[in-house]
Amino acid sequence: MTLRTADLRGRAVAVKVPATSANLGPGFDTLGLSLALYDELRVSVRDEPGATVEVVGVGAGEVPTDESNLVVRAIAHTFESVGVALPGLDLVARNNIPHGRGLGSSGAAIVSGIMAAKGLLEGVAEFDAQALLALANDMEGHPDNVAPALFGGLTIAWVTPEGPRFKKLIVHRGVSPLVLVPEHVMSTALARSLQPQSVPHEDAVFNVSRSALLVAALIQSPELLHAATEDKLHQSYRASAMPETDRLITLLRSNGFAAVVSGAGPSILVLCSDPSQRLAAAELVAREAQTAWQPLMLAVDFKGATVTAVAADDVDTPAA
Ligand code: HSE
Repeated sequence: MTLRTADLRGRAVAVKVPATSANLGPGFDTLGLSLALYDELRVSVRDEPGATVEVVGVGAGEVPTDESNLVVRAIAHTFESVGVALPGLDLVARNNIPHGRGLGSSGAAIVSGIMAAKGLLEGVAEFDAQALLALANDMEGHPDNVAPALFGGLTIAWVTPEGPRFKKLIVHRGVSPLVLVPEHVMSTALARSLQPQSVPHEDAVFNVSRSALLVAALIQSPELLHAATEDKLHQSYRASAMPETDRLITLLRSNGFAAVVSGAGPSILVLCSDPSQRLAAAELVAREAQTAWQPLMLAVDFKGATVTAVAADDVDTPAA
């Protein structure tokens, strides 16, 4: 494709993207919840070609800081999708979302880049919600983290021959997420490799019923969360790769808590039906865990990713 150039000199944007928990038990590759824990990014256009990346917080000294950086690749993918040449860029990322823990950090990086590109291309190219989701899904491969990261709340995402689609729902105000984050990581690719190619029909029916019920539980009837978070499609197949996650989820569930693997793990998401339940669940894990698990009592994020234009000379100071 021949790329046109656009005069973007002096432009700079600030982006904020929430963490997400995907699957929520039965809703494999479909349901996702946006959580109030954020990665922040500032991007400014510079005169020299290429990209510089400064990372503050999670991933500093670990993630690439050249053009192979996932955020830079997402910006480049978005520019390319509208046929505009990528200008030189300076990035400063302040990351709070833990990496490799099942909290949507790679989806957040992809969404950060796409939203930054959208902001930088204001007036040059327009992106509707469907286009943003398609760009993110191209890079992530499944839409259940990137949909809530983009749009907030609870999202149902599905894929059609024309591209991914989503429906955003507002979660019942009693629903109170607790995320328990271990020190060890889990690779999504490894978790996905443990999945069978086919499952028994009765297991598919089991998950259809629970995921339909889960939507009702999350938006209307939180007292059904325990029954609605049962799953037979992915968690048991992956349990051997994260034995302590599996053991603690079994313990939490037998004590009445709606606990599931967060995304591909190894973090645990507990969907409490009122805020006071969260402390009891966190205390149970602190008593019974053999390794350290960090409890995060997070609100549901209702807004999703945001991008705003900022002054270019503000770029070295990530938003607090
Ligand atoms: N649905 C995905 C999985 C989420 O469980 O593999 C993690 O990216």
